[in-house]
Amino acid sequence: MNAASNRQPVLSAQGLQRSFGAVVAAADVCIDIQQGERLCLIGSNGAGKTTFVNMITGYLKPSAGRILLAGEDITQRSPREITLKGVARSFQIPQLYLHMSVLDNVLAAWHANQGSRHFLRPAHDAESVARSMDLLERFGLQTMAMQTVRELPGGVRKLLDIAMALTGQPKLLLLDEPTSGVSADEKYATMDTVVQAIERSQEQVSVVFVEHDMDIVRRYASRVAAFYSGRVIADGQAEQVITDPEVQRHVTGLAPASRTSHALSAHREATA
Ligand SMILES: Nc1ncnc2c1ncn2[C@@H]1O[C@H](COP(=O)(O)OP(=O)(O)OP(=O)(O)O)[C@@H](O)[C@H]1O
Ligand SMILES: [Mg+2]
Repeated sequence: MNAASNRQPVLSAQGLQRSFGAVVAAADVCIDIQQGERLCLIGSNGAGKTTFVNMITGYLKPSAGRILLAGEDITQRSPREITLKGVARSFQIPQLYLHMSVLDNVLAAWHANQGSRHFLRPAHDAESVARSMDLLERFGLQTMAMQTVRELPGGVRKLLDIAMALTGQPKLLLLDEPTSGVSADEKYATMDTVVQAIERSQEQVSVVFVEHDMDIVRRYASRVAAFYSGRVIADGQAEQVITDPEVQRHVTGLAPASRTSHALSAHREATA
């Protein structure tokens, strides 16, 4: 047992279950998230990654199991209550106000997090604008502040969505596919920007992110949980999980090393 496992987790998901008709999207999912950890969720399409994120953030209620945030049961809480308790998220498809400027989107997020009902017509007071511009600067978006979101490419929208999630000053941030829709050569720059922006937060933020590109997973994850058919089939250090034969069979699509070596030996024998 290492030191981290002695501490209370930031979040503990215990035995979560959820089905959609005959589809089991979560079958007894158990994951503890430790402080300061960068946990990556991997799994093929439909494996249950977004379902997990949706349950943690209150968008979807599990049919069984419970979710503890720093020991407090939040299983039946609304998304808004959970956000106010310090759990923020971005979406697989960014949820932005397309007709508004980048700055107004961030201002709206600050105001919504403070409980304002008028967040869609956010006040432009000097203090709010200053801290919004500071946040945009952390994401390299300050020069786009006055542009309408509709004019911006997908990668920029992803960054803006994540910046808006940080306005809640979360302890736990869940990012659903932060690099999807970002071109291959921009993925590392996007992740570098996100990680650096999060590290500049006042509090230590634990991050859970969903990712399909194993090179990105290796570079940025401190821990990996692999989903398959609503179950966590492996959970541990990145290399250990990625090279796990079950994970290679069901997630990464590679032949397990043992099967490859068997096939190679058979081939050598056949051609000897
Ligand atoms: N609201 C819903 N209604 C019906 N079925 C759903 C719903 N949400 C998820 N599902 C189903 O549950 C399963 C898990 O979906 P989920 O979105 O969690 O997968 P995922 O791992 O995020 O996949 P992807 O990599 O494609 O985003 C899928 O079969 C999906 O079709
Ligand atoms: Mg998903």
